[in-house]
Formats: sequence, C-alpha cells, structure tokens
Amino acid sequence: MKTQTPLFAIVSAVFALALSGSAQDAKPMPPASTKAGVTYDGDIKAILDKSCVHCHSGDKPKAKLKLDTLEGILKGSRNGKVVVVGDSAKSEIVQAAAHTSDDQDEWMPPAKATGKYPNLTADQIGLLRAWIDQGAK
Ligand code: HEC
Repeated sequence: MKTQTPLFAIVSAVFALALSGSAQDAKPMPPASTKAGVTYDGDIKAILDKSCVHCHSGDKPKAKLKLDTLEGILKGSRNGKVVVVGDSAKSEIVQAAAHTSDDQDEWMPPAKATGKYPNLTADQIGLLRAWIDQGAK
C-alpha cells in the first residue's frame, strides 16, 4: 500500500497536466494588419474560401450566413450583421474567427471541424480586421 499512494499521485498529476494542456481558453484579438488597400478580392476571399465557405455557402448556409461573396458577408446571418463596417473589433466575424468568446460554441470554424478547415492565423485575422476597418471594399 505504501508505494501505491505516490504512484497514484504521479498518475493524477500527469493526467491533470495533459488536461490543462489541451484545454483551450478564449484569446485576445490580434491587432489589425498595417497593410494599406486591403480588399475582399485581393486579400480576404482566399482566406474565407479555405476556412469558412464549405459550411457558409450554397442553398443551406450555416446560420443563413453566406461567406462566399462580398454581398453575402455584408448581408449577415439569420441573426443580423456579422460585419460592422469600420469597426473590426465589434464585428462578429472577427470575434468568431479570433476565438475571443469564453463560449467555444462561438468559435469558428467549429472546434470539431478545425482538422478539415484551418483556424485563421493571427496574420489572417489581422488582414480581416484591416479590411473591415478600411471600409470592407
Ligand atoms: C464545419 C462547418 C463550419 C465552418 C467551416 C465554419 N462555420 Fe461558421 N457556423 C457553422 C455553424 C453550424 C454555425 C451555427 C452555430 C449555431 O447555430 O450555434 C455557424 C455560425 C457562424 C457565425 C454566427 C452567425 C450568427 O449570427 O449566428 C459566424 C459569424 C460564423 N459562423 C463565421 C464563420 C467564419 C468566419 C468561418 C471561417 C473562419 C466559419 N464560420 C467556418 C459552421 C461552420
């Protein structure tokens, strides 16, 4: 019995470490890119095509949000606008992609799909922010 207690302690410590390592927390929003003249066609479309459009396009886009055209992005979802033109920090599309919410259900792409559809990198989020701040043209 004497040797079991420390072994148990070590095993639970290892488990606790593994768990804390895999748990994901809300993140701060990366800063907007300093690039000038950011456009949907030139910078943004390719990013969204890769990470978002599979689910947000076609006849039944998720949340009725189409992310495959500029028109669709500006129109928004069944719940309203996801872009506040001129204010990227307040734009739901940025908050979702940057995982700023404590509620993981609001993270995009959804956690269970990130293997297939990559999360946006900090640079990509920065471009998305600059695009919205510059007027979403
Ligand atoms: C694997 C499918 C999938 C991918 C990929 C995906 N989404 Fe979503 N998205 C969903 C689903 C499902 C919902 C609805 C969630 C709900 O109803 O709670 C949603 C909802 C949203 C919403 C909330 C809309 C609203 O007002 O209710 C936003 C914003 C959003 N997605 C943006 C994105 C962005 C940006 C990307 C790419 C970075 C992306 N999504 C990638 C499936 C996806």
